[in-house]
Amino acid sequence: MPFYHTLGRTPRKRHTVFRRPDGALYAEELMGHEGFVGNSSLLYHIHPPTTVKSARRVRALGWEADTDTSLRHRHFRTAHAAKGGSATLDRIPILFNHDIAMLYVEPGGSDEHFYRDSQADECVYVVEGKGVLESSFGDLPFGGGDYVVIHRNITHRWRFEPEGTGGTEGTGAKLLVFESRGHIRTPKRYRNEFGQLLEGAPYSERDFRRPAVLEPKDERGDFPILVKQYDAINELVLDHHPFDVVGWDGYFYPWAFNIHDFEPIVGRIHQPPPVHQTFQGDGFVICSFCPRPFDFDPNAVPAPYNHSNVDSDEVLFYASSEFMSRKGIEYGSITLHPDGLPHGPHPGRAEASIGAKATNELAVMMDSFRPLHVAKAARAFEDPEYHRSWLESQQAPFIPPTS
Ligand SMILES: [Fe+2]
Repeated sequence: MPFYHTLGRTPRKRHTVFRRPDGALYAEELMGHEGFVGNSSLLYHIHPPTTVKSARRVRALGWEADTDTSLRHRHFRTAHAAKGGSATLDRIPILFNHDIAMLYVEPGGSDEHFYRDSQADECVYVVEGKGVLESSFGDLPFGGGDYVVIHRNITHRWRFEPEGTGGTEGTGAKLLVFESRGHIRTPKRYRNEFGQLLEGAPYSERDFRRPAVLEPKDERGDFPILVKQYDAINELVLDHHPFDVVGWDGYFYPWAFNIHDFEPIVGRIHQPPPVHQTFQGDGFVICSFCPRPFDFDPNAVPAPYNHSNVDSDEVLFYASSEFMSRKGIEYGSITLHPDGLPHGPHPGRAEASIGAKATNELAVMMDSFRPLHVAKAARAFEDPEYHRSWLESQQAPFIPPTS
């Protein structure tokens, strides 16, 4: 995140003497992207972050691809996916390549374990649910509609508020997870040469939330941390609580941005999908389709024109329980429109959209620039007939977001 932030206590000069009340030195740690040249932060621990008592590989996390690779549009219904488990350990892979993976999980409770992903930046879109992301950098509250971005190597723990009042039956949380080999960032064209967001960008610095409360834990004992690295879960047991940071500053920390803080850009005639771009990765983009007025020329056709998005696989997640359900597509649906096939409005929808004043759609789009594999696990909740839904005989009264 290209904004400087600081929390807690830090010495006036970096790499200088900074002592605990008992006279010992705090342990300074630099954490950041690309060694010493990317965005980074300096953290001050009560105990050295290096005191590992044991290390072991727990299990592999390889994703198996669907063997049916015939070219067609695909549709997955997450409402029918398996529920429960951990927000970090029980994610169901849906689509993946070497740059980006999309996974889905409806966790049954808070994580008790500490976790870090050391091979990917994670962007977790909170479809529903509420809680606090705890990390070495402090507490970051989250709620529905938040994109929670956790850069690689940040030790954290997902804590959810129980669903309902006083209940413990579940979290009610639904999480759409992006795991990215490259760094997740705001698009460069939204920023000036100094990193400040431009007036024309669809959001401003005020829309990005950072950890707000830092309460360092000075506790000794066995503290297992589960670390994703080399496509496997590893367990490292630390001899102290990992959230022992008394202060930090820099540009590297977890942050959150709510989809409803995205300011839609509209035009007299149809605006192309890049106006909805929210984040940039290596080999993919993430876009937000938000409620907005439609195109205002009287002759405008607000429905998207048919398009062949060459060099791009296009994935849409339907994020609104209110923007319901045209035939076949429902809240929680994921559609994959792969490179090599045109897609567009369903029969009758272009005509029906003329004169429409607004849309209340809410969708998250991910375009990858290299082909995606469908995960075998996603077959369990796939709609196998989706690729035929443009036929007049299918009577599919569906208008996709203007992607
Ligand atoms: Fe599209």
